[in-house]
Amino acid sequence: MFAAPFIALALAAVAKAAPAASLCPDGVHSTINPQCCFWANARDRFINEIFLNVCQENVHSLVRIAFHDAIGFSLNSDKGGGADGSIIQFGDTELAFHANEGIDFIVDFLEPFANDVGMTFAIQFGAAVGLSLCPGAPKIPAFVGRPNATRAAPDKTVPEPFDDPTTIFARMADAGFTPTELVHLLASHTIADQAGVDPEPSVLGAPFDSTPFSFDSQVFLETLLVGTMFPGSGPNPGEEQSPLPGEFRLLSDKVFARHNLTSCTWQENALSQSTMASNFQTTFTKLSLLGHSQSSLLDCSEVIAQAPPATAPKAFFPAGKTHADIEQGCATQLFPTTLSTQAGRATPIPPVQVQDIAFGRK
Ligand code: HEM
Repeated sequence: MFAAPFIALALAAVAKAAPAASLCPDGVHSTINPQCCFWANARDRFINEIFLNVCQENVHSLVRIAFHDAIGFSLNSDKGGGADGSIIQFGDTELAFHANEGIDFIVDFLEPFANDVGMTFAIQFGAAVGLSLCPGAPKIPAFVGRPNATRAAPDKTVPEPFDDPTTIFARMADAGFTPTELVHLLASHTIADQAGVDPEPSVLGAPFDSTPFSFDSQVFLETLLVGTMFPGSGPNPGEEQSPLPGEFRLLSDKVFARHNLTSCTWQENALSQSTMASNFQTTFTKLSLLGHSQSSLLDCSEVIAQAPPATAPKAFFPAGKTHADIEQGCATQLFPTTLSTQAGRATPIPPVQVQDIAFGRK
């Protein structure tokens, strides 16, 4: 047993060792590393001017573009420089690719930032800041200082929802990701909606789960429910029947939820919010570093806040659905009967609204 004075001394030593933040030259922000002052200011600009302080459409789009930019990378051939901002810098080329349809509006928002802070940072740094606004999301480290892109990524580096699973697994493996890591990344579809798979106005912004503003496990649970309807004009290429009016299901998500290489990780994510968040944190960080070495970058993670906790501690069946609606995917572990059903009457899932930005649309 240690004596109390010894513990007090030890604690004091630890407290003394912890580096203190000092005031930045702008007189507003404080950082431990003075080189991160610039990024503290960039964070506030993202939050106030682009995200309007909420985890809504502009955060969703930024997380999506972070994937589309980074995945332009290959371990085996020359497919682009990874997370290098090429999707903005060489937007004339990359935004014309089918898989990037609908991403141009966030590029319009980002361009003024990209010019101020560098293309890559505007994307990967912005995604880390955006996720900090989504309840339940893990803290994504902010590594800054990447050089800008020197070339466009070629077409066909971004998977499409109508691609067969073998093609998607092969593309992800080519960029260095296993099927399990793909599932970890797909936690991002918990804050997601569609506009391009079914362009019908009634499903513009139709979300992939019933809680698109919270980084929770719902998308993994809800993609396991029996599909019963197409919410808009479907079926469209890359679309599958969804279980709830207003909700949209990608064919690829349906397939991964039931595929023998991915279904058990999928179920694990449905059942554990903390496992899902921690695996996403590791794999999204790996994605954001594609094409770069972490040791050559400056770590300004200190300016990224921890998101608030998820609104519900674990997944639930949306009103009207029960365990009987689960289509068992994982062959080695049955989906448990312990999750409860949300109280009340089943109501259509509302679409995610398009957001403006503080300085207005162009
Ligand atoms: C198999 C791989 C994937 C496929 C086939 C896929 C496909 C799609 C599609 C078709 C959309 C709807 C786009 C629209 O119509 O506007 C979408 C949205 C989205 N995806 Fe993926 N995705 C994949 C992986 C990922 C990954 C790895 C991430 C991030 C790490 C990601 C993040 C998002 C986000 C955040 C949205 C919502 C965008 C918004 O609401 O504006 N996706 N995805």
